[in-house]
Amino acid sequence: MTTDPPPGFTTHQATPARIYDALLGGKDNYAADREAADRIKQKEPNAELIVHNNRAFLRRVVTYLVAEAGIRQIIDLGSGLPTQDNVHHIAQQIAPETRVVYVDNDPIVLAHDRARLADNPNTTVVTADLRESAAVLGATETRQLIDFSQPWALLSIAVFHFIPDDPGSIIDAYRAHMPPGSHLALSHLSQDATTPETAAEITRIYQDATAPMVLRTREQIHGIFAGMELVEPGLPLIMQWRPPVEPRFPEQVWLFGGVGRIPQPPATTTA
Ligand SMILES: C[S@@+](CC[C@H](N)C(=O)[O-])C[C@H]1O[C@@H](n2cnc3c(N)ncnc32)[C@H](O)[C@@H]1O
Repeated sequence: MTTDPPPGFTTHQATPARIYDALLGGKDNYAADREAADRIKQKEPNAELIVHNNRAFLRRVVTYLVAEAGIRQIIDLGSGLPTQDNVHHIAQQIAPETRVVYVDNDPIVLAHDRARLADNPNTTVVTADLRESAAVLGATETRQLIDFSQPWALLSIAVFHFIPDDPGSIIDAYRAHMPPGSHLALSHLSQDATTPETAAEITRIYQDATAPMVLRTREQIHGIFAGMELVEPGLPLIMQWRPPVEPRFPEQVWLFGGVGRIPQPPATTTA
């Protein structure tokens, strides 16, 4: 890092964004993050493959949203640090006018994105806790890019497992501002997609980080899409969601993923 450390920045304690960056082979991480990543790899030898599979899921989801569902505005909650194949790269390759708001509560993401996004007028970053939907949706940067009268997509890829609060209530607060035709895309770690022993070990490692890891059952994750239409093929393991021709994936992939569409309200008949 060549920039001054932003407020709230800590290097002695691992953060989810920087552990993830270390697992992806990135450079925006510190000794505490690499140590946590190494501990994770000892307990889950497929860890690097799993995070790359999550990024591949994200690429397929964004491609679907822009190319097939016609989405042109996206808010990416818990966007993280990855430098390649970011949401705006994928979306704007298909439709250059697509607007993207990145949201993360780790100050390193803001420092990183300010430089990375400086010359892209259709992309911005908001530093906020995603649980504060009013702060996210009301931020000047968000309001400049997102027209809430038109359908938009909310991404929460590999982030709600760092949120102990009820995800359904958090999503409901966003949903109040999502017109029909809007979409929610989500991937989430689950104890149903690994062994109980590995789940317990990895959860323990995150107790030393800045955010705990909260695994949920597939049924609980499915419940986050309540009232939405799940796009085919529903909520499978991430590599099974519109898979590439030759998927390469471990047996225990940890994450379920899916996309939900907010339906049109039922037509009312007048007497
Ligand atoms: C595992 S990374 C996922 C990054 C990206 N979405 C992806 O799937 O490649 C999780 C991200 O969520 C962010 N995060 C965790 N809790 C958050 C919160 N309460 N509000 C906003 N971001 C949060 C972390 O800082 C981290 O960057």
